[in-house]
Amino acid sequence: MSHDKMILKHPLSVRMFHYFLILSFLPLAVTGVLLYFKPLSDAAMHLTMQIHAAAGVALTIACASFFFLAYDRVVLFIKRVFSVSLADLKWFAVLGGYPQKLILRKKVPVPPMGKYNSGQKLFGIFVLIGGSLLILSGWILWGFPHAMPRGFVSLMGDVHLIAGIVLTLFLCVHLFLGVYMFDDFKAMILHGKIPYEEAREMSSLWVRKEVIPISENKC
Ligand code: HEM
Repeated sequence: MSHDKMILKHPLSVRMFHYFLILSFLPLAVTGVLLYFKPLSDAAMHLTMQIHAAAGVALTIACASFFFLAYDRVVLFIKRVFSVSLADLKWFAVLGGYPQKLILRKKVPVPPMGKYNSGQKLFGIFVLIGGSLLILSGWILWGFPHAMPRGFVSLMGDVHLIAGIVLTLFLCVHLFLGVYMFDDFKAMILHGKIPYEEAREMSSLWVRKEVIPISENKC
């Protein structure tokens, strides 16, 4: 394979879903923080609640549509984020080499990674489990709080709060690294492709096991 080539990392279906995640989840996180601290007037808090609920409905529709329309991508994503090995422990031991690169401007050896590095896998697991819990608990709290036992509704309130806090904190790191890794940013937000050399360095196992065999078959 020629080394100045670009390779497809994020197909259109994934990019479209990611746009919907940005459009629904970011307003959810901001309004969620406002609802927790209640810094605004009653009228403004009421509007905040309405925006929170509307963004929650939008997130539910986006997730359900992606699940049914791109089921194969969902299965692949689950397989990838749950494929854990010793390399992940080694990756976390040096935090993927990011602090050394960012603070000390030093490059340290990092174990070879697949399509996602260990940090992205952990984020993916939190998005899957935390996102499902958030959506489910959100619908119960908003849609039918009086149809459920009081203790259960209170438990759902706690689940919603904890999942919301954890995902929002993870999201801050994701946003920072998502923009810092600018080739990945352009791939996810614009055209889906990243330079082959970049992929070979950052996701060598993915390139070796999945990208090269596919391209060789097609040649
Ligand atoms: C402006 C906001 C955001 C930016 C700039 C951003 C950036 C990115 C980038 C660059 C990637 C690709 C990473 C890679 O190629 O290795 C990515 C993947 C991902 N992002 Fe975001 N992101 C944003 C918001 C969100 C939100 C709100 C969520 C969900 C709560 C989210 C969930 C994900 C997931 C699950 C992936 C992996 C998708 C896949 O490759 O199959 N992102 N994001």
